[in-house]
Amino acid sequence: METVKIIFGDKVCELPIIVGSEGEKGIDISNLRKTTGLITLDPGFANTGSCTSAITFMDGEKGILRYRGIPVEDLAEHSIFTETAYLLINGKLPTSQELNQFSVLLNDNSLIHEDMQFFFQNFPRASHPMGIMSAMVTALRSFYPELKINEEEINLTVTRLLSKVRTLAAMSYKISRGHKVIYPRPDLNYPANFLNMMFDNPVRPYYIDNTLVQALNVFWILHADHEQNCSTSTVRMVGSGRVNLYAAISAGVAALWGPLHGGANQAVIEMLESILKSGGDVKRAIERAKDKKDPFRLMGFGHRVYKTYDPRARIMKKMCDKVLDKLKINDPLLDIAKQLEDAAVSDDYFIEHHLYPNIDFYSGIVLRAMGIPTNMFTVMFAIGRLPGWIAQWKESLDDPNWRLSRPRQIYTGLGKTRYTPIDQR
Ligand code: SDX
Repeated sequence: METVKIIFGDKVCELPIIVGSEGEKGIDISNLRKTTGLITLDPGFANTGSCTSAITFMDGEKGILRYRGIPVEDLAEHSIFTETAYLLINGKLPTSQELNQFSVLLNDNSLIHEDMQFFFQNFPRASHPMGIMSAMVTALRSFYPELKINEEEINLTVTRLLSKVRTLAAMSYKISRGHKVIYPRPDLNYPANFLNMMFDNPVRPYYIDNTLVQALNVFWILHADHEQNCSTSTVRMVGSGRVNLYAAISAGVAALWGPLHGGANQAVIEMLESILKSGGDVKRAIERAKDKKDPFRLMGFGHRVYKTYDPRARIMKKMCDKVLDKLKINDPLLDIAKQLEDAAVSDDYFIEHHLYPNIDFYSGIVLRAMGIPTNMFTVMFAIGRLPGWIAQWKESLDDPNWRLSRPRQIYTGLGKTRYTPIDQR
């Protein structure tokens, strides 16, 4: 086994090098503090691995993304979201019988407790759907307390969550508009059921367009997992305290909400709309993004891991053209997005900083075409990422090396200080 030697004063510490199945190497620092008294410091964990994992492989330099070894391009072309969810969670593609059983279980668990509707009635109308989603996922625990952690119970809890999150999202949309709640239907598949619950209504039955169903399958497959990103690391961190799955997932939803993470898809559309409103001046947007004094960033561009084109963005861009053509929609925001991409990818600043479109750059255009409101874009991301969060949570549960997550720090505050009574301050 390769090792690295750390010489610190009179202490010498030899640390093993862990090698991953795709050749990635890491220094195992488990014994660093014990042998040298040193810890490591890595703001944002850009150089720090939190775990070993067999779920998703990314190569940021080559723009590679694989779920359980299968390239995301192949899954986007040949799979459906529920099959990819099964693959991520169970580690293999299902047989047709297994997929059918999984679909039956998803259907059987697609309703939510009727009392949960009262929760929605009491959220202020302007509540952000991500805040509602995080709260309602935690609330599921009160209605479905899993009795014990065993394989069968975990599978039921996992499937229950996958199915009910989709129902909760559509219900939140309907109730926020004062519309009648539409229930899931046993004859519809996962994405078709979602679209129907969102857009069907008693006086105007919703026509389920298979182009949109397929687009939603691909959209959710592309979002399904992405190794140890901010929200997945949050699910693992919260799960490490052995809290129930609902609480860990609710924390992941909250982490995803941020505009630098999953909230970027909403931020991209708001950015494109503001560029359009100010006359479509793409050049000025690029200059602003490069100006360090200007807080403006090109949302949907850049990535901590990808230093080339995000493979998911490539697929999403093609899907924009396909969906908008089929629906005969001419969205000026897509033209602005393409002009921005053309300008940025040929600009030295973006090339030197390895800034390319990420998944969020085009995804909002597809969601707009489906009629999904902008403030629900990150909820759509969360529904897609749910199988990944669940798979990562399950993997950490089964990991013999998994411990309570509790990072260290370097203290930079005051030395020992006397308490000053209030009448002497
Ligand atoms: C997702 O991790 C994942 O896997 C996430 C995700 C997933 O599937 O889970 O892929 C989903 O979150 C995608 C990212 C969505 N966020 C955005 O699109 C927001 C815009 N992008 C950035 O803010 C930024 O690129 C991040 C947050 C995504 C990554 O930032 P890093 O790795 O912390 O890099 P940084 O902020 O330190 O920037 C490095 C340099 C800086 O310039 P210098 O000071 O070195 O000169 O690049 C510049 C930054 O100013 N930069 C940008 C920029 N992103 C980085 N400049 C202009 N526009 C941008 N978008």
